[in-house]
Amino acid sequence: MMILQWGVFSRLPFLMAWVYDVRMDETFEIFATAPPGLEAMLLAEVQAAGFAQPVAMPGGVAFSGAWPDVARANLELRGAARVLARFARFRAFHLAQLDKRARKLDWGAILRPDVPVRVEVSCRNSKIYHDRAARQRIERAISEGIGAPVLPEASEEAVRIMARIEDDLVVLSVDASGPPLHKRGHKEAVGKAPMRETLAALFLRACGYDGTETVVDPMCGSGTFVIEAAEWAAGLAPGRSRDFALDRLAVQASRTPVGAARPVPHSFFGSDRDDGAIRMSTANAARAGVGDLCHFTRAPISDLERPGGAPGLVMVNPPYGARIGNRKLLFALYGSLGAVLRERFGGWRLGLVTSDGGLAKATGLDLRAGPPVAFGGLSVKLYQARI
Ligand SMILES: C[S@@+](CC[C@H](N)C(=O)[O-])C[C@H]1O[C@@H](n2cnc3c(N)ncnc32)[C@H](O)[C@@H]1O
Repeated sequence: MMILQWGVFSRLPFLMAWVYDVRMDETFEIFATAPPGLEAMLLAEVQAAGFAQPVAMPGGVAFSGAWPDVARANLELRGAARVLARFARFRAFHLAQLDKRARKLDWGAILRPDVPVRVEVSCRNSKIYHDRAARQRIERAISEGIGAPVLPEASEEAVRIMARIEDDLVVLSVDASGPPLHKRGHKEAVGKAPMRETLAALFLRACGYDGTETVVDPMCGSGTFVIEAAEWAAGLAPGRSRDFALDRLAVQASRTPVGAARPVPHSFFGSDRDDGAIRMSTANAARAGVGDLCHFTRAPISDLERPGGAPGLVMVNPPYGARIGNRKLLFALYGSLGAVLRERFGGWRLGLVTSDGGLAKATGLDLRAGPPVAFGGLSVKLYQARI
């Protein structure tokens, strides 16, 4: 996959790169963020969802749209960590110019005077290099323009405006998501090392999952893979149970109505040796509205049974030494996972997420490693195999 670097991307004509006057267009660039390493998976999702002109870039996928597209991206993209609306761009070669151009913007069309704002600025390769001074100019343009309170620190109640100044081009974005999108709003109970829902969705997609097959997670923890796969199969929008920063903006972007769950002809299975994990997963699935589709059983890996029906996908995120447990014991655990899968899951596919290539190898399966992905302070990889 080709990932365009920002420098190249910013020169594409359709994104009006060489704009010197201050403009706020009806369609603009929307950027859905993804962990580096998984941009191609998010690109596939953005394409499948029918958004216009999607391009993968480091850290996410850019596409073109208007505020209703921002709303739909928040609501429907399973793999996006956040959705940013890049609503304005202009050149500024010094602070006075930034000040003047920031004041020209119609902030009242984006922000509400009663909602606090937090401004963040980064400068690169530009004549304006002092990010605090630049931030202060933009904060002043907002507070004097519409009277919205500007907060000095990041906080959940504030809408985040981000200014990136690169090669003297100022690009202004608003974080239209607010709390990161892996917070789906229906998961209360989590285990020791839960997978993020957005990552789980991207890893499922990387394994070729498209909502039409059975998924089994034999070390399910809080049930993230199983619940995510079941919701996807049922066509339930991931953002249906939460709100977004977009809801507190002045822009016109009414929510797309959320459709009802579609019938799913197969089931999803999670097991774990830990009682608490099974209780959590069951409660989380019920809250997500997929309790009927998901079956959770307390069982060690040695007791894992193959469900009836067509072969599907085993998706697992076993413990890894750096986070929980002891590496030597984990070799035995990965070994028995591999043995059980070879013995009982012939014809299925495996997706295994771990930070430890040595442990992955201990499964004895012929694994293909994906790119490194940052997660929880570690670098993990998705290993795939045909069993
Ligand atoms: C990293 S966590 C999985 C997190 C999960 N993906 C989630 O999103 O919450 C690993 C899980 O493996 C389970 N586990 C460890 N050894 C096991 C074994 N022998 N059989 C079954 N489950 C086991 C642990 O109880 C733990 O819940």
